[in-house]
Amino acid sequence: MQKIKSQSSSNNAIGVFDSGVGGTSIWKEIHSLLPNENSIYLADSKNAPYGIKSKADIIALCEKNVELLLQDQCKIIIVACNTATTIAIKHLRTKYAIPFIGIEPAIKPASLKTKTKNIGILATKGTLASELFQETTSIYSQGIEVLEQDGTGIVELIENGKLYSIEMKILLQEYLNPMIEAKIDHLVLGCSHYPYLIPILKEILPKEVKIIDSGRAVARQTKTVLEAGKLLNRSTKLPKLHFYTNGSKPLLESLIGSKFRVENKFF
Ligand code: DGL
Repeated sequence: MQKIKSQSSSNNAIGVFDSGVGGTSIWKEIHSLLPNENSIYLADSKNAPYGIKSKADIIALCEKNVELLLQDQCKIIIVACNTATTIAIKHLRTKYAIPFIGIEPAIKPASLKTKTKNIGILATKGTLASELFQETTSIYSQGIEVLEQDGTGIVELIENGKLYSIEMKILLQEYLNPMIEAKIDHLVLGCSHYPYLIPILKEILPKEVKIIDSGRAVARQTKTVLEAGKLLNRSTKLPKLHFYTNGSKPLLESLIGSKFRVENKFF
């Protein structure tokens, strides 16, 4: 099969997509590490959450997002969604000749650092059920108890503007109580929406529990891949940063800050 090709010039944008607004947690890490880079962020909020959809549906949604970013000649695509990564990235890499960076739950660092030998993982149903997640967990969980919790409802609350709500606090308490009882010392956030929960999680969890997300690792990997492909943007001009959503503009703005302009797009 002939792969669909992208443009490869260092001035071209980094494309980022997620099933909604959560991937902005990854975009922020990338922007902070690579402030000269132009970028395009696609929030597919209309189709959130991906985590409860079938594999075929998730792949079709990912292809739609990738093709939009390719129309804008992105030089690399960040799949800023654990669910999309674990379910679709292998397929995307086969179909499109462009570098893809995905995001996966950081099981490895948590397993290496745990002292209680109990770690918690909060992720979507789709991520927990995926082969990629099961494979990674079986490699790194030797001698360690991994408490998996499916975060159903969390993405929906965030996408509905209820990040700081009583409903969210009650849901998180319900999800975390068994982990607290099991004395986890690391909580792995396996969804790019979840870093926005950190202030609430800190109120619920004992203070010795470390919260781990993969945003910084994704940013570092993006830099490594761009450097290797001679695609780092060396320009000192202010970068062009585009944010598109097929859902609520104010919601996306509330997470990235009002200095960035968000546009509605039909996709
Ligand atoms: N941000 C997505 C992830 O990292 C949310 C998942 C979903 O849409 O269910 O998995």
